Order: sequence, then structure tokens, then C-alpha cells
Amino acid sequence: MTNPAEYIKGIHHLTVSVGSAQDDIDFVTQVLGMRMIKQTVLFDGSASIYHLYYANADAEVGSVWTTFPFKKAGVYGRKGSGQIETSSFSVPTDSLKFWVNHLKNHGVENSGIIERFGQKMISFEDRSGIGMAVVGVDNDHRNAWQTDEISKENGIRGIFGATIRTRDIIEMDAYMTKMLNFKKVGQDGNFHRYHIKEGGAMKTIELHHVPDMEQGSWTFGVGIPHHIAFATEKDEHNLELKAYIEGFGYTDVTELKDRNYFHSIYNRTPSGVLFEYATSDIGFAIDEPADLLGHQLLLPPIFESRRSEIVKPLEPIQLPKYLNK
Ligand SMILES: [Fe+2]
Repeated sequence: MTNPAEYIKGIHHLTVSVGSAQDDIDFVTQVLGMRMIKQTVLFDGSASIYHLYYANADAEVGSVWTTFPFKKAGVYGRKGSGQIETSSFSVPTDSLKFWVNHLKNHGVENSGIIERFGQKMISFEDRSGIGMAVVGVDNDHRNAWQTDEISKENGIRGIFGATIRTRDIIEMDAYMTKMLNFKKVGQDGNFHRYHIKEGGAMKTIELHHVPDMEQGSWTFGVGIPHHIAFATEKDEHNLELKAYIEGFGYTDVTELKDRNYFHSIYNRTPSGVLFEYATSDIGFAIDEPADLLGHQLLLPPIFESRRSEIVKPLEPIQLPKYLNK
């Protein structure tokens, strides 16, 4: 029998809470230059909150970045440990000079080109304070989205990885290495790097050990990252993975949740960061054509009868030009 940890293929998506929906759309589509692929709403709780999805040109699992804009609802959180510190995106190393200028042109303060684990990167924040980086990767041949300002050659290929701020390193290390079979591959100062399978883009997680930093919010709230989702293939694998994780004593793995575009289980890790395990066999073209992804607000069938009540409190938004068809 396959060890259920082997069903984890890499990162599926990263999800954060941001400020205004319009600021988010403008930042992600113009500054990051990603393709907007889905407008829907948060399925949990009762507040009307957008759930916006972005990705590379092919809307692939592993390139997906999703946001919950919480400014209009007035929900804020505290930054601290137990949170994702940096969400990082894969770009060619040669493009990093372009990115320094591009970020500067958009008024985004950035670190300039720095190195971690011998890899060149630039760190910065979005308009709501979400920590981000573009990381130089030369063997990532995924298809970047192209914009007026960002060529296909310079564009984001997809997710590179995520850095987690944790007060305690030992239990989180055990969660990832002994249970999930991630491999610890190095330490650079207070950063510890782990590979999923062979590592690289979509398959890199870092722990930033911050023993003296106070715990931050686990809730939704402007500027607070929410979770890392790892890709599995299908429901059966997720159910085996759930039983496997529970067998280690982590009995708080959720039931399989229907997220319309994938099915997911969630588990709070010892670092405080929420891990999701999401299936890859459904995809984003289930409710709109693949070439028109993101062009209208879509609700899951169970919400459709309440559409007007759900849509009314949402911030009016201006979509990127290519979606105004
Ligand atoms: Fe998710």
C-alpha cells in the first residue's frame, strides 16, 4: 500500500486575506501580472466576501494564488508568528533586474536582488501588507501570462513556495518530515528549507524560526495569509491522507469539503499555519469556458438561490481589460 504522504504532489494554491478587492485585482494583474481566472465568494461563514483566483496562462494547479478581500467587511488581524511570512512566485533568474524596476515603477518598495539558500530573489509586500517574493528559477517552463508591461519571458511561471514563521521548529519539522515525508535540505541563518519530493518550484517550503515573536491571527483579516494548499489527485487519496494524519494524533483533520473546483481537507499544523490538501482532478473550467475564466461572478449551485443577497454587499469592481468582453 502506498504511504498516503506520497499522494502530495506539491503546492496546489496559496490563499491570503487582502484589503480592497479592486486594489487586489489591480496589484495581482498589473504588478504581479497574473491571469485572473475566477470570481467567486468565500464558502465558509455567512459574510459576503469575494474569493478571487489568479494563475499562470494555463490556470494550472501549482500556479494558483487566491485572495479574500476583507476591507469592506472591516475585518483586520494581527501579524505575528504562526503565519505564512512570504508567498513566493517563480520567475527566470535573468528577469530579476526587470522585476526590481517594474516594482519600483509601481511604487512597490522591495529588497532589491538578495540571496537565500544561494538562490536570487526579491521580497516585497502587496498593498495590504502580504509578504511576497519573486524567486529566480531556471528550470520552470510553465506558461506565464503576458501583460502590456510584463513579457511572457519575464512573467510569473507559478508558485515557487512559502515561508512559514514558527516559534517552535521541532514539532513542525516532525510534522513535515516524519509525517509528510518532506526532506529537510538545508539551513540559512534562521531559515530552514524543505523539499517535497525533488524540490524546486511548487515543491519548496521554508520555516523561519522566530522563537521570540508573538502569535499572530489565525482568522481572516486584511493583510493576513490564510493557508497553504498542497495538491493531491482525487478524493480517495484525500480520504486516505486524512486517516493517515489522524493516525499520528492530529485528529482535527476536517471532513472532505467541496470547494467546487477541488475537494479539500484541512489540518492546523504545529507551526500554527493551516495546511489544506486539495484534489487536482476537477479544475477551473467546470462552470465557465477555459478561455473565459474569471469573466463573471460565479456561485456554487447551493448559493445560487441567494445570489442577490450575496452579491449586494460586495465591492463593485473593474475587471482587467481582457475580461471585459
Ligand atoms: Fe484553499
